Amino acid sequence: MSDKYILGIETSCDETSAAVIKNGVEVLSNVVNTQLETHQRFGGVVPEIASRMHVENISFVVEKAILESGIKKEELAGVAVTKGPGLVGALLVGISFAKAFAYSLNIPIIPVNHLAGHISANYSIFKELKPPFLSLVISGGHTHLVDVKSYTEMDIIGRTRDDAVGEAFDKVARVLGLGYPGGPIIDKLAYEGKDSIPIPYPDIDGLDFSFSGIKTSIINMHHKNPNIDVKDVATSFQRAVKEILYDKSLKALQKTGYKKIVIAGGVSANSHIREYFKRLENTGIKVYFPPMNLCTDNAAMIAIQGYYNLEAGIVESLNMNAIPNLKIGEI
Ligand code: KG4
Ligand code: ZN
Repeated sequence: MSDKYILGIETSCDETSAAVIKNGVEVLSNVVNTQLETHQRFGGVVPEIASRMHVENISFVVEKAILESGIKKEELAGVAVTKGPGLVGALLVGISFAKAFAYSLNIPIIPVNHLAGHISANYSIFKELKPPFLSLVISGGHTHLVDVKSYTEMDIIGRTRDDAVGEAFDKVARVLGLGYPGGPIIDKLAYEGKDSIPIPYPDIDGLDFSFSGIKTSIINMHHKNPNIDVKDVATSFQRAVKEILYDKSLKALQKTGYKKIVIAGGVSANSHIREYFKRLENTGIKVYFPPMNLCTDNAAMIAIQGYYNLEAGIVESLNMNAIPNLKIGEI
């Protein structure tokens, strides 16, 4: 069998990224151009600025990814690109580029769900990992428990009813004046405080999450007492988040009977969550976390999922459009 090379393109939020993957698992290149510093001064991603920066960056990011991969573009079997979820203007930059690029080489355009991409990042490292399994997808915009039935078929079995967990990290950090993005900052600070602040745990049966109550309680606490020790808040908030994610994941494992859980998305970089989930191993569950460089947005994960989509015959024409609220499992 000849080798199959896929070019991945990711522009759903504030990272312009391109990658080349060999046979669905080997990352030959993964160029990530982050706009973080530009958005930092606004305290969050500004969609219009993100789109414009993607337009400026996409050509050289793709060129660099192909150069670093050591292959010629004529060897590519397809171009995988994020179809959604994400910011519509930002997604359209990647999709438009992918269309032109695929057309010029006469190769397929492969649509990829950004969240499925986060999950598939794990396949490149854990060669033994194969569906079915449970996945906890925790990112800036989503918090899902996903039944991954095959490489391309997935069902959401639990979801947040309000804020995503990454959003809660970012908003809490913002209120405490810690900067953006909040996740990595709270992750570090949580080692320095006391676990002394009462955090209201959401009262939801089943597999759904809620983080807005916790966020609001911290905002109110900070308004009442602006001198509250931010380190203590970070420690207490961080403890609540890891416990809630763990409890629901355990419930979902019991419900599905799966013995494997894959954590995915930007928040999977969180060191406290990574450590806390290790205890699942004592109950015979295998826990997978992506390597740190594949936790947050990147195109390697899009190319990996793109490989499996192509194998399943999931391709699109030049009519392809962005779907900003694309659900996992819809492609
Ligand atoms: O997956 P991602 O890069 O973008 C989306 O698809 O949303 O996730 C970004 C989110 C942000 O909310 C950021 O604060 C969070 O991931 N994040 C973290 C950590 N690193 C990034 N959250 C907690 N701990 C971290 N170490
Ligand atoms: Zn993401």
